[in-house]
Amino acid sequence: MGLNVTFIEQGGKRVTASADAGDNLLRVGQAAGLPLEGTCEGQMACSTCHVIVAAEWFDRLTEASEEEEDMLDFAADARRTSRLSCQIDLTDDMDGLTVSIPSQSSDARRM
Ligand code: FES
Repeated sequence: MGLNVTFIEQGGKRVTASADAGDNLLRVGQAAGLPLEGTCEGQMACSTCHVIVAAEWFDRLTEASEEEEDMLDFAADARRTSRLSCQIDLTDDMDGLTVSIPSQSSDARRM
């Protein structure tokens, strides 16, 4: 079963991508042309895949691991509902998931 994920770009433009259960949110965003670098390819060694999850969705996702929380400390513009998109695998009940691309999607450690 297909599902839709909406990304809100920095300027407020909404991009809806179709995905399947089991797809990784970072890959879906990249395939849709969003500026998510994902430099470490899911190894939790960067924060360039940082997204801000819509508040109504945040509590419905599986909790971030301690490693993910630590890496989010490096993310520019991190919020309470920030997540690393590479750590989110989509499931059927995530149809309609909405995330925003942070205003600074670069890796804070490179500055
Ligand atoms: Fe590096 Fe997600 S791709 S932490």
